[in-house]
Amino acid sequence: MEYLLEAEHITAGYIEDVDVLQEVSVRVIQGSITGMIGLNGAGKSTFVKTVFGFLKPKKGRILLEKDDITGIEPHILIRKGLWYLPQESSLFPHLTIEDNLLIPTRVIGLSSYEIRDRLEHVYTRFPELKANRKRHAGDLSGGQQKILEFAKVLMVKPRLLFIDEPTVGISPKIAAEIYTMIQQFLGEGTSVFLIDHNLRKLVDLTDYVYVMSLGRIVAEGPSSQFQDSLKEQVQRWLGL
Ligand SMILES: Nc1ncnc2c1ncn2[C@@H]1O[C@H](COP(=O)(O)OP(=O)(O)O)[C@@H](O)[C@H]1O
Ligand SMILES: [Mg+2]
Repeated sequence: MEYLLEAEHITAGYIEDVDVLQEVSVRVIQGSITGMIGLNGAGKSTFVKTVFGFLKPKKGRILLEKDDITGIEPHILIRKGLWYLPQESSLFPHLTIEDNLLIPTRVIGLSSYEIRDRLEHVYTRFPELKANRKRHAGDLSGGQQKILEFAKVLMVKPRLLFIDEPTVGISPKIAAEIYTMIQQFLGEGTSVFLIDHNLRKLVDLTDYVYVMSLGRIVAEGPSSQFQDSLKEQVQRWLGL
């Protein structure tokens, strides 16, 4: 089995004597979508922030294809092929749509040919972004802003994409578009780690699921194993 990411026994937190994550071990197989579920406050976002270098783990290590990336800063991780879509917006609202698309290409250092090629690809796929490319990102609707953030992923083409609750507060139509895009990322060579409160959707979309409760992994397994009696299983995992 080819593991793209291995997080081993990660203990982490925001202040010295409170560990939000306790001995969390998670692996992502190359070419898969891996999911994580858990109640609010379980530590899901904290886990992703730790892998992405915003928090330094107090214990444990993180490997990207056997390369130790524990504690490495986000901008370096981006160059190594990681990308992160936080639950809150990561757009620059006062910059144009086009500038928002171009900024990450500077971080990863693409040639101007590659930049033009990818931008054209994004504009073909999302004609409404092309039509509005000179407008401020902040002028778009919430759903369109989310689409723009996903379009940025097509500019970056990461090896591993972390997505935190992508459809909270988003219309069903845009949510469906986002889930379709997540599936399509695999075909572009991007493996995905997805946090989503929509259990059914998460189990349908992913290959493997982790369940987090109070900062620990309390269950895990192939998603197919969770297709039946999903609700009952989840209630049991979370001790409801
Ligand atoms: N910036 C922060 N500073 C201090 N504590 C935080 C911060 N962000 C989250 N927490 C705490 O960490 C715990 C886990 O939060 P979080 O990772 O956001 O959970 P989830 O994403 O599963 O809802 C919660 O108790 C939360 O209050
Ligand atoms: Mg969260």
